[in-house]
Amino acid sequence: MSGLDEIIIRRNTGSVKWDGIAETYQADDLLPLWVADMDFLSPRGVREAFEDYIKHGVFGYSTIPEKLYQTIISWEREQHNVALVKEDIIFTSGVLSSLAVAVQAFTEVGDTILIHDPVYPPFTSIIETNQRKVVRSTLREEDEHFTMDIADMEQKIIEHHVKAIVLCNPHNPGGRVWTKDELSQLSGLCVKHQVLLFSDEIHQDLIFSDHVFTSMLTIDPALHDLLIAFTSATKTFNIAAIKNSMVFIKNHELKDLFEQQLLKNQQQEINTFGLIGTQAAYETGKPWLAELLPYLEKNAETATAFFEKNLPEVRVMKPEGTYLMWLDFSAYVSDDQELENRLITKGKVVLNPGITFGPAGKGHMRLNLACPEQLLLEGLKRIQRAFL
Ligand SMILES: Cc1ncc(COP(=O)(O)O)c(C=O)c1O
Repeated sequence: MSGLDEIIIRRNTGSVKWDGIAETYQADDLLPLWVADMDFLSPRGVREAFEDYIKHGVFGYSTIPEKLYQTIISWEREQHNVALVKEDIIFTSGVLSSLAVAVQAFTEVGDTILIHDPVYPPFTSIIETNQRKVVRSTLREEDEHFTMDIADMEQKIIEHHVKAIVLCNPHNPGGRVWTKDELSQLSGLCVKHQVLLFSDEIHQDLIFSDHVFTSMLTIDPALHDLLIAFTSATKTFNIAAIKNSMVFIKNHELKDLFEQQLLKNQQQEINTFGLIGTQAAYETGKPWLAELLPYLEKNAETATAFFEKNLPEVRVMKPEGTYLMWLDFSAYVSDDQELENRLITKGKVVLNPGITFGPAGKGHMRLNLACPEQLLLEGLKRIQRAFL
């Protein structure tokens, strides 16, 4: 029995995943397998670091400790072979708010930004609320995983005068861990057409066996003049509440522009819990992560086997990383609203509707696997019930 099997009651804690259901679906008997956080306790070292800070009891403004820069430099070097110096790193209050800052700092109103279809929905909303245009390149499905259509991307870059690309590396919702070869081709495109690349690498540490994460920072020094990379300890260690992230920019002219935009928005100050949580996570969280990854991978295998046996027409994209599973229900239900209704009213289970990830998400749902096995099994039974 793993410590991760423990069921932690999250209802009535203000959790978006558990308590946000009532607002969205006006029901309180649904099992949430949607919003991307985990139903596990965060690493002990992180909880203890917060406890120490709370015990001290003075909560004034904080500086960013030198030690934290060094911890991040070591983590990136040891885990991902990324070479950073302190001057490449900016602390921010979330990957998404940082992506918005990059859009504001490096593109103009009316510019076109390319994203994949499907992809994590906030990419679209950030681009559109900042009055930039979205152009989508549909991912291809080959051997039950996504691949990029480089020729299509190039054509769209030329046709739409694309200014920037937002990449999800690894990919949410497909759980794809892009290979070095694929990322090199993408890098080549960016360099050839001088297109900026905003690489969201928040899922960098959630990689299953036989797969290797490649940061865009490691591909080609020529890309550094076009690259803004984003990451965080929050997804890896289940500390989304602390809203802390890092932006890595090797070209310091670009970094200055990014920092000026942070100042314009008065977003340069960092929540102290964020600094403490990130430090403690990277410093103490490795054994926890070593236990987490096989647990998530086993959950992915359990879900895959369940669908094969009980709902064989569901097409399962088995993740190579992340804790998300992309499911194609279109053999059972073709209408997206009916698919959602069935899961909610008959199944009493909440997944993320695929259509919110882009037109290619039609007929799909995204399942969150990051919960104790017992909850996952209950959720899978509920999904089956929706189709009886
Ligand atoms: C790809 C991706 N980027 C960003 C985020 C959110 O990051 P943050 O909470 O730091 O804004 C998520 C959360 O699910 C995500 O999956």
